[in-house]
Amino acid sequence: MSDKVLVTGGAGFIGHILVKYILDNTDWEIVSIDRLDYSGNLNRFSHMLKDYDEVTKKRVKIIYHDLKSEVNNLLESQIRDVKHIFHLAASSHVDRSITEPMTFVYDNVVATGNLLNYSRNLDNLETLVYFSTDEVFGPAPEGVSFKEWDRYNSTNPYSASKAGGEELAVAFENTYKLPIIITHTMNVFGERQHPEKYIPNTLWKLRNGEKILIHSDSTKTKPGSRHYIYSEDVASAVLYIVNNKDKLAKSSLDQYGARCKKVNIPGTKELDNLQVAELISEYSGLSLNYELVDFHSTRPGHDLRYALDDSFIKSIGWEPNYSVDESFEKMVRWFLDNPEWLDF
Ligand SMILES: NC(=O)c1ccc[n+]([C@@H]2O[C@H](COP(=O)([O-])OP(=O)(O)OC[C@H]3O[C@@H](n4cnc5c(N)ncnc54)[C@H](O)[C@@H]3O)[C@@H](O)[C@H]2O)c1
Repeated sequence: MSDKVLVTGGAGFIGHILVKYILDNTDWEIVSIDRLDYSGNLNRFSHMLKDYDEVTKKRVKIIYHDLKSEVNNLLESQIRDVKHIFHLAASSHVDRSITEPMTFVYDNVVATGNLLNYSRNLDNLETLVYFSTDEVFGPAPEGVSFKEWDRYNSTNPYSASKAGGEELAVAFENTYKLPIIITHTMNVFGERQHPEKYIPNTLWKLRNGEKILIHSDSTKTKPGSRHYIYSEDVASAVLYIVNNKDKLAKSSLDQYGARCKKVNIPGTKELDNLQVAELISEYSGLSLNYELVDFHSTRPGHDLRYALDDSFIKSIGWEPNYSVDESFEKMVRWFLDNPEWLDF
């Protein structure tokens, strides 16, 4: 019988690509829990599944549940006996976290607590991956890349709530010996990303002839920058980490003996906001009209630069499959062929 895995937030942007990657690269049965809010919808899931045969489709089951409520007996009976858990369900939009911080505390801390508490009773659980973010470390000065065990410095409620969930996961590893792996992932882009996010939103604006406002520093000369990684590469990194747990020993201890496995999933390349818009313009053939605006110094909670150290994941042998240019071209073509995914 095939192993069973649980993906929380499987109808979300990264979650549905992880489900696809698992379907393509394993024989695992997949159960996904999702509350199907504005950012996670069944259309995304069924659009992704439409090209699979019926046998493959039957390997996936999606269950509606909001993890702010505990995993009850009925839900437990529908999940049963999972070997790996990938916990992606979260509220993830920084601007929304600034206007409604408590939503993020409930979705990212309380809901994580409910999932961890449920996982304590699973006899055959081998791995629980908690999906964290580079944003827990706060802004990275030029030349600095944060390592797995560096200090947190949240500058908005989203990153603080992700750091809170992360620290709960560390506690459950230490207290109950749950087999936790924490990943810090950088900015992810790819097919079916929600159009409120910068990359699909920029393509939408270019298509409609709108000016792109490039978020920059106070002098309006230096655009903010991020390291970007393609969604399929994130899925490949996560499966590589789970399948190579024996190589993670060095990531499980910091210099003071803190215990829990943590792995950075770095971006493939650092791009500033203007370079991103230029790449989208180049691959879509649509002309770019832009203006640099001072965003980061006037808006609290928005950081100019994030960066993660990539030496550990490289040292255990993982490499991305796509360069940023290849994946940008592939993604832009996909959105132009599927324009309904650019509309809010
Ligand atoms: N997108 C990125 O660039 C990025 C980078 C680093 C880390 N992450 C992390 O990866 C994960 C997935 O991000 P994403 O971009 O796919 O987000 P997303 O918003 O597209 O998907 C999140 C999914 O979780 C579900 N969800 C939210 N709260 C829930 C709850 N209380 N109970 C059940 N389901 C709930 C939503 O319905 C949605 O389907 C998140 O944990 C996020 O913090 C994302």
